[in-house]
Amino acid sequence: MDHLINTEQLDRKTVESLFTLADSLEGVRNNSLSGKILATLFYEPSTRTRFSFESAMARLGGAVISTENAKEFSSAAKGETLEDTIRVMNSYADALVLRHPEAGAAERAARVSSIPVINAGDGAGHHPTQALLDVYTIQKSLGKVDGITVALVGDLKNGRAARSLVALLTQFSSISFTLVSPPELKMGSDITDLLTKRGVVFTETDDLSRGTRDADVVYMTRVQKERFPDVDSYERLKGKYVLNRSSADALKETAIIMHPLPRVDELLPEVDASPKAMYFKQASYGVSVRMALLTHLLS
Ligand code: NCD
Repeated sequence: MDHLINTEQLDRKTVESLFTLADSLEGVRNNSLSGKILATLFYEPSTRTRFSFESAMARLGGAVISTENAKEFSSAAKGETLEDTIRVMNSYADALVLRHPEAGAAERAARVSSIPVINAGDGAGHHPTQALLDVYTIQKSLGKVDGITVALVGDLKNGRAARSLVALLTQFSSISFTLVSPPELKMGSDITDLLTKRGVVFTETDDLSRGTRDADVVYMTRVQKERFPDVDSYERLKGKYVLNRSSADALKETAIIMHPLPRVDELLPEVDASPKAMYFKQASYGVSVRMALLTHLLS
């Protein structure tokens, strides 16, 4: 693996070896990447993805150069192309983490980059490192990934985290999916075609309680305001699904509730005290999983 642009580059063997590495790196601070430089170039807001990459690099003794607002604070503001920025960054860093509002941006960057490019979210495209930490969370919490039922809820059309998670889970066996969304926000046909091609069972519904009843994993997502052409259609759809404490209690006893975060209206704070709530733990796994990935790409 030279770059990590989408989950199609991750086969089960690679995923499992990254997870073994992540297990061994939990809580570790060492100097294994001392002398290496990671650039984090973010054209869209982020809390978890950027900070956990930077924390991961710091824990491995490496250095970070960063802009959290590349739209304004890089030469993009002066009209520089993404390609030119990436070419130049190649002389300043050993790897590059890129978040960009356009689907396909990470692939464009990789095309002109001889240092590894890691896609940290490209518009409504892909978010492969989120998918890795999500599958890792499932493995850690349920003790297995094969054979489970996963319900994904919310904006499945624009949510790159949900899209990448479904794609990555096709590497595992006998997973069944329930895709819960309003008709306007259904999962894209590129992903459902992949499910069909790989013989994976899935159902689509707009009914939250029916769609989550038998799930081992309930993956809540935010309606992606920034991808809507107008405020009205966002306002109409944003409150469609709300997971509250009583709906959390009604899930399977052993179910876990996940969310890539940030949450807005769809997951109430009253759920946090439920033993099923796994989303903060999920965010914390981002560090060791990204330590594993950086070690894999850089050492
Ligand atoms: C997600 C993203 O940016 O796609 N956040 C994250 O990386 N944890 C999900 C979201 O913004 O809704």
